Amino acid sequence: MRFDCLKAEYLPEIAQIERESFATPWTEAMYAPDVEDENAIYAVGIDDGGEVICYGGFHKVLDEAHITNIAVRERDRGRGYGAALMSKLIELAKQSNIARMTLEVRDGNERAVGLYKSFGFSVEGIRKRYYENRFDALVMWLTIEEG
Ligand SMILES: CC(C)(COP(=O)(O)OP(=O)(O)OC[C@H]1O[C@@H](n2cnc3c(N)ncnc32)[C@H](O)[C@@H]1OP(=O)(O)O)[C@@H](O)C(=O)NCCC(=O)NCCS
Repeated sequence: MRFDCLKAEYLPEIAQIERESFATPWTEAMYAPDVEDENAIYAVGIDDGGEVICYGGFHKVLDEAHITNIAVRERDRGRGYGAALMSKLIELAKQSNIARMTLEVRDGNERAVGLYKSFGFSVEGIRKRYYENRFDALVMWLTIEEG
């Protein structure tokens, strides 16, 4: 797998992975502004056949990285791609002089929470009924180490 930045040509596949991953998926139109936005930093994992395996990104807000979405296509989950993606996002954050990264994850999404904790993220807050006005979101933060 190689990583590329977010490009318009990837949006149909990303939208498909969104639909298989989330109850309220982002559409191509919702991702389109991030293609042009220099403060939106994405890593898109591409397989040998040129297809999108995974993607994730963040918006730079001063020295913080606000992660938008992270997903691996359904048939390739549990094979280490999520971890590779998170490593890449942290590397990109370091290159952007980011001090702290944050994300929201649905309470009960054990795989995602386990992944984030394994990279040093910790739960620092809860947004009640954040998803579909039903499910709580855990707010997780990571402090980026220097060097
Ligand atoms: C969450 C997601 C991105 C993880 O990617 P993945 O490729 O499946 O994860 P990996 O194979 O890289 O696993 C990485 C780590 O996740 C954790 N993990 C994986 N499966 C797990 C499980 N069933 N239970 C708990 N933790 C788990 C472990 O810490 C694992 O590290 P390990 O292999 O050293 O034990 C992916 O499953 C996905 O796209 N899910 C649907 C969308 C989603 O929920 N996105 C997150 C929204 S915030």
